[in-house]
Amino acid sequence: MVKEIVLANAPTGFPVIELGKADSTFEIKEIELPELQDNQLLLQTIFISNDPAQRGWIQKDQNSDRAYLPPILPGDRMRAASVAKVLKSTSSSFKEGTLVQCYGGWAEQLVVNAKDAFPLPDLPGVSPSVFLGAAGVPGLTAYFGLKDVCKLQEGQVIIISGAAGATGNVAVQLAKHVLKASKVIAIAGSDEKCQWLREIGADVALNYKSSSFSNALVEAAKPSYADCYFDNVGGPILNACLSVIKRNGCVAACGAISAYNDPSQMILSNWAEIIINRITVKGFIVTDYYHRRAEANEVISSAIKEGKLSVAGGETIVRCTEFKEIPKVWIRLFRGENTGKLVTQVAD
Ligand SMILES: NC(=O)c1ccc[n+]([C@@H]2O[C@H](COP(=O)([O-])OP(=O)(O)OC[C@H]3O[C@@H](n4cnc5c(N)ncnc54)[C@H](OP(=O)(O)O)[C@@H]3O)[C@@H](O)[C@H]2O)c1
Repeated sequence: MVKEIVLANAPTGFPVIELGKADSTFEIKEIELPELQDNQLLLQTIFISNDPAQRGWIQKDQNSDRAYLPPILPGDRMRAASVAKVLKSTSSSFKEGTLVQCYGGWAEQLVVNAKDAFPLPDLPGVSPSVFLGAAGVPGLTAYFGLKDVCKLQEGQVIIISGAAGATGNVAVQLAKHVLKASKVIAIAGSDEKCQWLREIGADVALNYKSSSFSNALVEAAKPSYADCYFDNVGGPILNACLSVIKRNGCVAACGAISAYNDPSQMILSNWAEIIINRITVKGFIVTDYYHRRAEANEVISSAIKEGKLSVAGGETIVRCTEFKEIPKVWIRLFRGENTGKLVTQVAD
């Protein structure tokens, strides 16, 4: 028997993380795994990715016609990207002991079809967990958000929120060291995070919880205002940034974590700035660009090798001694208790 965590009650507000209550968002199950068929793998989960998007996947009563992935329904295993070890294989493509990437979810062990598992790319010297962060989906999101949505050019000024997170810290480093922005204004939720952001390339780093944030943002954007804003958070920070974007500037709408558990946060009193200053707001989902993954992976792995993209310090790895702790690690995303990619480790 192996453990997995499934959705119990789809939330509308902040998830109820304690297991075993009547309104708990998740519940733990013990299941028997099936025998391996041809071309299948038995996997042991090692690292689990924690993503704000998972909150959207479990939202109650979503309109599945408008969702970019099928909703997770009560009884379904929680979906999550993971790095896992092959324990048994009936596929000639995978040997036992190989590490793979897959959407294994919150499962101790699982059986997958070999076509749904991917060997880790060759990037010597980095922890396998980095393939869930800088060298994984957050890195791709940062790259395509900057390159294709912001269309960031050398010498431009960019504002990046959620800057000390998985996507944000890669965006800060690529914007400054690869795409050569003249000024990167990073926004994060603590002085310690801001200090780290200055160390990895931000010209200015602002703590949005400080009472002087709005004034400091206006000062930071002087004299010319920002060419673009890479928005990871939405809500009051997006509202503040709208007033410091240049005429004909743009917003890359990547995420809105401030509103995932509380949609009332998404009040934009500065909406008229979009009209008056002819601002383009473009939403994107990283999967739209998956056909160009090789291009992004090349830029990101070169940046890592050349020291332009530091992955040291860009991860918060939480080792769970008990499988049931997984939801408690995930919820840290919504409390800002991560610097860089938040990864759960469930085995060695
Ligand atoms: N469009 C896409 O394809 C795509 C792909 C990946 C991610 N995303 C989005 O990008 C954003 C970042 O994702 P990530 O995986 O890189 O996560 P992350 O930034 O590593 O973690 C979330 C961070 O959000 C910040 N946060 C939490 N609540 C907040 C609030 N109320 N206001 C402002 N900031 C808040 C916290 O940092 P502080 O301490 O700074 O508050 C926290 O550390 C999310 O909105 C996510 O949905 C979009």
